[in-house]
Amino acid sequence: MALITQKPKGTQDVKPEEAYKWHTVEKLAADTAESYGFKEIRFPTFENTKLFNRSVGDTTDVVQKEMYSVTAKSAANGKDPDDFTLRPEGTAGAARAVIENGMLNDALPQKVYYVISCFRHEKPQAGRLREFHQFGAEMYGSALPSADADMIAMAKTYICRLGIKDVELNINSIGCPKCRAEYHKELKNYFEGRKDELCGTCRERLEKNPMRILDCKSPICQDIAKDAPIILDYLCEECSDHFEKLKKMLKAMSIEYTVNPKIVRGLDYYTKTVFEFVSTHIGAQGTICGGGRYDGLIEELGGNSVPALGFAMGLERLIMTMENEGCDFEQPKRCSLYIAAMDDSALEKTVVMVKKLRDEGFWAEYDLAGRGLKAQMKYANKIGAEFALVLGSNEIESGKAMLKDMETGEQTEISLGDKFIDNFSNIAVAKMFSNVLEDMT
Ligand code: HAM
Repeated sequence: MALITQKPKGTQDVKPEEAYKWHTVEKLAADTAESYGFKEIRFPTFENTKLFNRSVGDTTDVVQKEMYSVTAKSAANGKDPDDFTLRPEGTAGAARAVIENGMLNDALPQKVYYVISCFRHEKPQAGRLREFHQFGAEMYGSALPSADADMIAMAKTYICRLGIKDVELNINSIGCPKCRAEYHKELKNYFEGRKDELCGTCRERLEKNPMRILDCKSPICQDIAKDAPIILDYLCEECSDHFEKLKKMLKAMSIEYTVNPKIVRGLDYYTKTVFEFVSTHIGAQGTICGGGRYDGLIEELGGNSVPALGFAMGLERLIMTMENEGCDFEQPKRCSLYIAAMDDSALEKTVVMVKKLRDEGFWAEYDLAGRGLKAQMKYANKIGAEFALVLGSNEIESGKAMLKDMETGEQTEISLGDKFIDNFSNIAVAKMFSNVLEDMT
């Protein structure tokens, strides 16, 4: 029985009282992306497995070890032979969607963003989940280094708007297929000498894609990779020039960075620029953002030859960083008014008043549990109502009631007639402003 009340390993529930943190990061993501001219795109949670094999790459950890691939029950009967996979990331699905919808035939660059759930069968730990969420952004159609700088600037703007301070930007260039051919040869030579010490997966990678050994999670492979040749020493003129121009632009925008030649990223589609933002506040899984250029992917997937680039950030890691740095989240809406009804005729008036308040956008509440007056006021307090009002036969007869400020205990007489909503609204707004002023002083 316990199994059905336990969430799957590596997943998280967001309780209602924590949801405002998610609203903060999601709202600011949309806001920032839109101010950089990105429009939201939505695409399926699962895609044909081949899409990920082709784009993420079939020698990557993600494809070899971490994908959740699913087959419909009917497929077992031979009715539906398709093999689907829950998206481990967003770049592949977004690229498939822009190609399929002909978006790359419009004026370029095309700029899209998404906020999605992703699935990877990794070993769960703090900041590493099996279902996690990404805010990602992709730009199609610019080969210029200024596009790389623009993308990094947007990621940085978002991180700053969240209030995160302690973050480091690491950049690198992993070249293009031209310069990588030479580099692969050198890498192969290097690892060949210690082939027997590599893990089984990396021994296979040595033949197909030696660069993947550089981000293997096995500690032994990591140790061997420490002194491996670095790609920056093998860049062709075009890639080197692209990287120099990017660095210049970042400097011009006062965006601090470190060139880290060890960053190769764990996905195969990257070319030229790669980058990561790392937080020092959330432990070993500190990479809050990863991205880079992927000029060959669109063509690889069957589209035109269109250069592209992007990034994605883990929302769980961003929220953890914000919590650990003490950043502000946008506070959730509060209950404005609790109306406590003393008897059935008061309840009839209460439901009408509450409906009118809600129609005007206020969060208003009344008793739905058959509580007595004392218990109703206790409940109003518990849910954090800003004001409360008691309705009994006296109040209904006189058309007036005392509005109680639940924080100060102060009572103000308020008319229950036609002007009730206006009068209440004025009092609530005045209180909101006085709270804001108090916070500022
Ligand atoms: P990625 O580096 O695999 O890149 O993931 C991007 C971010 O997602 C990471 O920096 C991290 O914050 C978060 N993340 C990844 N795996 C997990 C996990 N298991 N648990 C929690 N958070 C995680 C990509 O996914 C690329 N698609 C980024 C990109 C977009 N490149 C170009 N465009």
